[in-house]
Amino acid sequence: MDIGVFIPINNNGWIISANSPQYMPSFDLNRRIVQKAEAFGMDFALSMIKLHGFGGETEFWDHGLESFTLMAGLAAVTSRIRLYASVAVLTIPPAIVARMTSTISDISNGRFGVNIVSGWHKIEYSQMGLWPGDEYFSRRYDYSTEYVRVLRDLWETGTSSMQGEFFQMDDCKLSPRPAHPVKVVAAGQSDRGMEFAAQYCDFNFAFGEGVNTPTKGAAVPARMLEHARKAGRDAGSYMLYMVIADETDAAAMAKWDSYNAGADMGAIGHLLGKAAEDTAPSATSMASTIQRSPSPINFSMGTLVGSYAKVAAMLDEVATMPGVKGIMLTFDDFLEGMDAYGKRIQPLMRCRAERLDAVA
Ligand SMILES: Cc1cc2nc3c(=O)[nH]c(=O)nc-3n(C[C@H](O)[C@H](O)[C@H](O)COP(=O)(O)O)c2cc1C
Repeated sequence: MDIGVFIPINNNGWIISANSPQYMPSFDLNRRIVQKAEAFGMDFALSMIKLHGFGGETEFWDHGLESFTLMAGLAAVTSRIRLYASVAVLTIPPAIVARMTSTISDISNGRFGVNIVSGWHKIEYSQMGLWPGDEYFSRRYDYSTEYVRVLRDLWETGTSSMQGEFFQMDDCKLSPRPAHPVKVVAAGQSDRGMEFAAQYCDFNFAFGEGVNTPTKGAAVPARMLEHARKAGRDAGSYMLYMVIADETDAAAMAKWDSYNAGADMGAIGHLLGKAAEDTAPSATSMASTIQRSPSPINFSMGTLVGSYAKVAAMLDEVATMPGVKGIMLTFDDFLEGMDAYGKRIQPLMRCRAERLDAVA
């Protein structure tokens, strides 16, 4: 079972609360997190790309670094861990991303991959004059498909002449090509998003569901398995969970209760309103998941709250869901959380035993 960390490239990580740790993103913070992850034998780190925040009293995600440049820096100060950057496909032409990838693949000696972000938060793009119109909501995975085909043409052959609806390439060149295969991943929650991931990506990230209900979201990797079967490809799911751990269940739950009590309703209001703008939400999309939740202080991602032993046991349960090939973690406090994970939680996880033996 692969395990990775979703690093805090924007302020305050993934908790929209005035009572959770308040911090700005920086290279130094993310370097320390990723170096700990590497030292504890974690397999990968992903940074998102977020170009507009949600405001509110915590200025949630109003402050953020850029994903590729951050990962290039991290590539230079790590040696084993795999690194994924996210591209918002509306913002950077694929030929440039192909070249940035070739560069970071070189810096990292082949440890680099790309997360394809089709885009759901319109204001990120409209603020810079890059929103193509609301019909894009229903075409975003068609656009992403052509985008990935250009990337793969360039990485695999050094040339693209693809004539698509969205991209017309004219003997476009890339050299040097990446010396190692580049993994492409996505995070579609809708069926169309999963269909895209199954056809064109190596795996798909998915939100876990509920608090201390590690297998409640089992339908999600099951759906992805079905899409992969139809596509005839081996593309599994990597599940996203937030870990809030402490010495005892009660101490961990007290933190979670406090974060909920401090919910930044201004920022959450923005999130709910913007998610509602998606004119093509399916019952399974992120927009509808967020809207269903009464207080999505952490985007309603699966949340594991408890003692170190309890969290380890719940992570083992996540690993049993059919179609799950990996788990990605966020924490309330990433530096303390990484140490707790590496020293107290991971040693108890059955699903990591084999991997840790191999690393040792
Ligand atoms: C692990 C993970 C990472 C994501 N990264 C980003 C990101 O960097 N930027 C972004 O705008 N959306 C991001 N998303 C949202 C997805 O790209 C996707 O739009 C969302 O999950 C909704 O799925 P759908 O497009 O199929 O409705 C992420 C989602 C997940 C679960």
